[in-house]
Amino acid sequence: MGKVILTGDRPTGRLHLGHYVGSLKRRVELQNSGEFEKIFIMIADAQALTDNADNPEKIRQNIIEVALDYLACGLDPEKSTLFIQSQVPELCELSFYYMNLVTVSRLQRNPTVKSEIQLRNFETSIPVGFFTYPISQAADITAFKATTVPVGEDQLPMLEQTKEIVRKFNSVYDEVLVEPEILLPKNQVCMRLPGTDGKAKMSKSLGNCIYLSDTKEEVKKKVMAMFTDPNHIKIEDPGSLEGNAVFTYLDAFASDEHFERYLPEYKNLQELKDHYQRGGLGDVKVKRFLNAVLEEFLEPIRTRRKEYEQNIPAVYEMLKKGSQVARAEAAKTLDEVRAAMKINYFDDEALIQSHVEKFNQN
Ligand code: TRP
Repeated sequence: MGKVILTGDRPTGRLHLGHYVGSLKRRVELQNSGEFEKIFIMIADAQALTDNADNPEKIRQNIIEVALDYLACGLDPEKSTLFIQSQVPELCELSFYYMNLVTVSRLQRNPTVKSEIQLRNFETSIPVGFFTYPISQAADITAFKATTVPVGEDQLPMLEQTKEIVRKFNSVYDEVLVEPEILLPKNQVCMRLPGTDGKAKMSKSLGNCIYLSDTKEEVKKKVMAMFTDPNHIKIEDPGSLEGNAVFTYLDAFASDEHFERYLPEYKNLQELKDHYQRGGLGDVKVKRFLNAVLEEFLEPIRTRRKEYEQNIPAVYEMLKKGSQVARAEAAKTLDEVRAAMKINYFDDEALIQSHVEKFNQN
């Protein structure tokens, strides 16, 4: 059997550079590698609702934003099935059965659930749906018999949980489900791109994101206001790279060719870093370079997004078709799951026959 990808994002906002380096870029490369038999990219609206129950409008508004970002980045509906989670009700049914295979204490130990509960101040008022979303994510992945799940490292605990469910299901019932493998970003910087304020993570609520759909002016403004080294006051002062967001972004995005094009007095990033640390290199110059580097890849994305924005009904139609394809795929797995669990009563001739015999003894 060929390899299958399933991955996705919660539609709680437009996608940003953190999404790009953390997973989008890789997805597009994988899509175009030709190595995968099937690729499913899911807009996880139902999962987003687990902690936005009172704000469905936010989710509704952001589905199209995420779809546009996907298309703009080069996800191609001819090669990848793009779909909306809530339009595949089979996922709910799978989740319901998987719930019997997971303990409450196991969920409580899930590090992502733990930290998100803290982050959102849920503490004692955790919605059950939110608490159990690792189970629903296992359903997302296994419904498509995904072999490969390209995501950021924050999703590792979800994948662990999924694997446990797969093993448990296959041992209790029958070998139906496929154990997926996580595919993490290739390098450390891409694992977790900090926000423009230097904080650990780009996050909409912190207002420290550069969005893929930001205008040229917005990007420039954000880059020029980025966090660097607060002790690097005069140009002559030696600068520090530690926690310096501008250099972290350069680690993630700059190549030697960028230096040739925009900053030929340096051969590569190492030379620039050395100069910064010695002193005599101002932040503004480094930020201008970063802006040029970012513009080079954001400009084509922005242009493609604009094109798709001119034909919104076609984007919705594409999502609808994708959701139908996804649904058919999930339904196939669900049939096997039901058979393995022996809840396929009406298809089970042997069951019916055995009852005929049981009740017709004399
Ligand atoms: N939890 C993922 C996120 O927050 C989104 C997601 C939902 C997902 N279901 C998935 C990712 C299945 C990979 C596979 O980004």
